[in-house]
Amino acid sequence: MKKINFYFAKIILFFSLISIFLVQNTFAEENQKDDHLSSNELKLGERLFYGLINTGENTINCASCHNTSVIDTFNWNPSILEIALSTQNMDSTTFANLLLNPVTKRMSEVHANIPLSGEQIILIRQYIDTYRTTGLKEQKKLVTRLSLFILLIVIFIAAFVDLSLTKFIKYKVVHGLIILIVLVFIFKILYEDAAGLGRTKDYAPLQPIKFSHQVHATSNKIDCMYCHHTAETAKSAGIPSTNVCMNCHQLVREGTYSGRFEIQKILTHMDQGQAVKWIRVHKLPDHVFFSHAQHVGVGQLECKDCHGLVEDMHLLKQENDLSMGWCLDCHRTQKVDFFENKYYENTFEEYHEQLKNNTTDSLTVAQLGGEDCMKCHY
Ligand code: HEC
Ligand code: HEC
Ligand code: HEC
Ligand code: HEC
Ligand code: HEC
Ligand code: HEC
Repeated sequence: MKKINFYFAKIILFFSLISIFLVQNTFAEENQKDDHLSSNELKLGERLFYGLINTGENTINCASCHNTSVIDTFNWNPSILEIALSTQNMDSTTFANLLLNPVTKRMSEVHANIPLSGEQIILIRQYIDTYRTTGLKEQKKLVTRLSLFILLIVIFIAAFVDLSLTKFIKYKVVHGLIILIVLVFIFKILYEDAAGLGRTKDYAPLQPIKFSHQVHATSNKIDCMYCHHTAETAKSAGIPSTNVCMNCHQLVREGTYSGRFEIQKILTHMDQGQAVKWIRVHKLPDHVFFSHAQHVGVGQLECKDCHGLVEDMHLLKQENDLSMGWCLDCHRTQKVDFFENKYYENTFEEYHEQLKNNTTDSLTVAQLGGEDCMKCHY
């Protein structure tokens, strides 16, 4: 028996070491940054960029606007990597001029009186340029979900083994409590992952161009249909092509928030004949059929019934989970304008009769077949 105890104690030790290693590892990755910056010049450039060297009255921290790490929040200012790429082919004088004598409105606001000498600007630029090869820094979460999960499993096994074999802890209540609490967390993680599978409520990816619906639909009162003009008549609402952007941006070259930087990307795409690679936000599985025409054209719903207040968003976000339950909830409650809508004129005679004879005063989508599996599934 003693031997077996020892054997299990070893197993527990082994698993604990693995989990400590996993957690440690995630800490380590957090700390190992900037190893590539060895030379003094680059260090100086870095300190200047972060505003750590006093260069005069308004010493600026460039990183407060130009993010140096990968971020998942919306930032109107270009990242340091974007700057590195856009200034790639500039000579030193042009680059210094860009900073010291800004010509455009936004640029002169954000870079007002930059207190840097020509020499310091060269140092900063060398630092900026390193990002072309290294890319933005990754921000790792301290403890990943996976290592937490493994840790929980290890604690579970340890408690179980101790309860039945090693018996280091005398009171069984303690084992019971530990096992119970750990199980609750394990099932919480499993449930959350299973329920979220394939669902992307609140999904809001950063887009290649910082296109803001708020700027266009609210501040500049452009109708949704101007850009998504197939929503009423086709299955897909469609994403506008670069040509549509050019209708206005041929003339409008500067934005209030992003200056020239983002709009310049439209022109670059035009010149290179490339389509903008927008990241798709809403996506139903392939086995589901959905048509905008049926909802916007026939059903006369508004965009916000399904997409929320897009006109208030700088960064587009998926408001609803697009689950089957979500579709059905609406179909069961949403009244259909049966009388006025030409679409139903020559169909559903029995309902026309009932409405005429006042046996029914309204119809839901479900009553018209909105719950039939075949309507939504191929
Ligand atoms: C000036 C053109 C323009 C206007 C006006 C406009 N959009 Fe868009 N819309 C876009 C572009 C470009 C994208 C792709 C980039 C993005 O997702 O932000 C997009 C994306 C979307 C998406 C997400 C598509 C996806 O990938 O799932 C929705 C939903 C949407 N728009 C709804 C609206 C609504 C509602 C309005 C009116 C309030 C509106 N749009 C007005 C250009 C426009
Ligand atoms: C109907 C005219 C119109 C169309 C079409 C249009 N825009 Fe704009 N856009 C504007 C106006 C007006 C501004 C605001 C300029 C300002 O902030 O003063 C603007 C601003 C912007 C900005 C800068 C926002 C800021 O404040 O910094 C970006 C980026 C932009 N548009 C991208 C696009 C893209 C991409 C498309 C095509 C999908 C597009 N626009 C289509 C009129 C338009
Ligand atoms: C308050 C925010 C802010 C701060 C601080 C800031 N910038 Fe900027 N920077 C911007 C914005 C916004 C733009 C884009 C303006 C435009 O294109 O009209 C920009 C553009 C640039 C560009 C030009 C990129 C191009 O291709 O046009 C360079 C280079 C640059 N910044 C370097 C710096 C440096 C170096 C510092 C620190 C000394 C700094 N910035 C501090 C906001 C900021
Ligand atoms: C009944 C709910 C509903 C309404 C109303 C609705 N949408 Fe959608 N929209 C969706 C769903 C669901 C998707 C995902 C479709 C897919 O993946 O096939 C989507 C996708 C989109 C897309 C991505 C491209 C595409 O067509 O797949 C855009 C853009 C869009 N909607 C814009 C609009 C606009 C603009 C309006 C208003 C004129 C609108 N939607 C009204 C539910 C709706
Ligand atoms: C906000 C309410 C709403 C939501 C959410 C909604 N629908 Fe609908 N749906 C309607 C209305 C209203 C109609 C009525 C148009 C009609 O009678 O054809 C309709 C009709 C339909 C039809 C045609 C039914 C028929 O009898 O011909 C299909 C298919 C459909 N919806 C699929 C979907 C799918 C798939 C989703 C989820 C991704 C969805 N709908 C989400 C309101 C909604
Ligand atoms: C109003 C539209 C609609 C109707 C009616 C509908 N479904 Fe669905 N169904 C969906 C959507 C949307 C999804 C995708 C859900 C997701 O990805 O979470 C789905 C997913 C599914 C799935 C895959 C399981 C999953 O969660 O991904 C099955 C199986 C299914 N439906 C069966 C049925 C059956 C059986 C019926 C008839 C009783 C039916 N559906 C009627 C819209 C509908």
